[in-house]
Amino acid sequence: MSECKSSQIESSQIGPHKNLVKLVHKYQQSCMQDSIPKHAYSAFEIANQFVAGDTVVLDSGCGTAESSYRLAKQFPDTKVIAIDKSIIRLQRSHTHGQQPENLLLLQADCIHMWRLIQQAQWEIQKHCLFYPNPWPKPGHLQRRWHGHPIFPTLVALGGVLIMRTNWKIYAQEFAQALGIILERPVAIAALSLNDAVTPFERKYLHSEHSLYEVIAELD
Ligand SMILES: C[S@@+](CC[C@H](N)C(=O)[O-])C[C@H]1O[C@@H](n2cnc3c(N)ncnc32)[C@H](O)[C@@H]1O
Repeated sequence: MSECKSSQIESSQIGPHKNLVKLVHKYQQSCMQDSIPKHAYSAFEIANQFVAGDTVVLDSGCGTAESSYRLAKQFPDTKVIAIDKSIIRLQRSHTHGQQPENLLLLQADCIHMWRLIQQAQWEIQKHCLFYPNPWPKPGHLQRRWHGHPIFPTLVALGGVLIMRTNWKIYAQEFAQALGIILERPVAIAALSLNDAVTPFERKYLHSEHSLYEVIAELD
C-alpha cells in the first residue's frame, strides 16, 4: 500500500438520500426476479460443498481477503467464505501467508451468492461488509448496498452484520435502511482502531479519516 494519503469522500449529498426510505419499502415488498447466471450456480456449488452444513462467517467484498484470513483464524470451528468479484484482488491474498483450511475464496458477485445462500439456508454466524464501494453521487444511490434491490436478502441472511465505512452518510443510510427492515432503530458508531484489518482500513487510518461501523444482530 502506498504512503500517499487518500482524500476524503466528496459528495453533493449533505445527509441521507431523500429517496432512501421509499426505495427500501419498495424493495421490501418485492423479491428480485432477475435470473441467476450459470457460472454463479457453479461458484455457489463449490462453496456449498465446502460449507457442508457448518456454521459460516461471510466476508463479502473481501478485496485481497486480509480480513478473511484473520476471521478464519479467529473462528477455527466455522467455515469462512470470502467473496469478491475481482480475481485480481483475490489473487493478492497469497501475500497473507498460508491459507487457513477453513477459508474459501470465491470469485463471484455477492448479489447472486446472497440469493443462493438464502435459498440454501446457510447458518450465518457473522457477516462482514468492510468498506463497500460508497458510490457517493446522489444518482448512484441504488448502487449502494442499502439502496439496491438485494438489500432485504442481505438482511434475511441473518447473523451479526458488521458494516464499516469512511463515509458517515453511507453509515447513516445503511443504519436507516436496516432499521426499516428490522423495525427498530439501528445505531452507527465511530470506530477507534489501532490496528487495521483490511488494506482499505489501513489506508484510511493512515489518512486520518473518521471511520464508522454499523453492527446489528439479524436473527
Ligand atoms: C473498497 S473495496 C474494499 C475491499 C476490502 N473489504 C477492504 O476493506 O480492503 C470493495 C470491494 O468490493 C468488491 N465488490 C464490489 N461489488 C461487489 C459485488 N457485487 N460482488 C462481489 N464483490 C464486490 C470490489 O471488487 C472490491 O474488492
